[in-house]
Amino acid sequence: MMETPREIKVSPIRNGTVIDHITAGQALNVLKILGVNEYNVDSTISVVMRVSSKKEGTGGWKDVVKVEDRELDTKTVDKIALIAPNATIAIIRDYFVAEKKKVNLAPTISGLVRCSNPNCITNRNEPVEPEFDVVSKDPPTLRCKYCDRMLSNISDNLI
Ligand SMILES: Nc1ncnc2c1ncn2[C@@H]1O[C@H](COP(=O)(O)OP(=O)(O)OP(=O)(O)O)[C@@H](O)[C@H]1O
Ligand SMILES: [Mg+2]
Ligand SMILES: [Zn+2]
Repeated sequence: MMETPREIKVSPIRNGTVIDHITAGQALNVLKILGVNEYNVDSTISVVMRVSSKKEGTGGWKDVVKVEDRELDTKTVDKIALIAPNATIAIIRDYFVAEKKKVNLAPTISGLVRCSNPNCITNRNEPVEPEFDVVSKDPPTLRCKYCDRMLSNISDNLI
């Protein structure tokens, strides 16, 4: 009789980035932010959705994304904070965690997200960069500084 495996081992990555403690359900939006699509996957990416998490305030679940041979620039990390405010970014070098930081959601967001109001000045070909106040961190909710529109579907409006 076959035994049920207790554990499945996944190979560790030598160099790359682990994005851990992603809000459950947001892994695909993280991939979108990373710019991963069928035409440009040039390194191994592993995605785990809805695994149990013991961290406080997560509802018990998280997603995890691991990308080989890539480190993330500041703008990318700032975008991840907008959809997964509790994520941690671990940089793996030679199999070990060389650096780890929590993403940080600034009180004001400039230029990363567009306003969902088509009549907003920021959508009218004026040289006005979209700017938002963060009114709630988790779930992230933004309010446009120009038209007061509340933006909750942030991942659909990332620039
Ligand atoms: N070589 C590696 N390959 C793949 N994943 C790795 C590697 N080294 C660490 N990780 C993963 O990177 C993340 C951060 O590693 P760390 O050792 O800091 O985890 P931790 O002790 O569980 O920390 P936390 O409190 O953030 O959960 C974890 O998800 C861990 O599984
Ligand atoms: Mg952990
Ligand atoms: Zn607006």
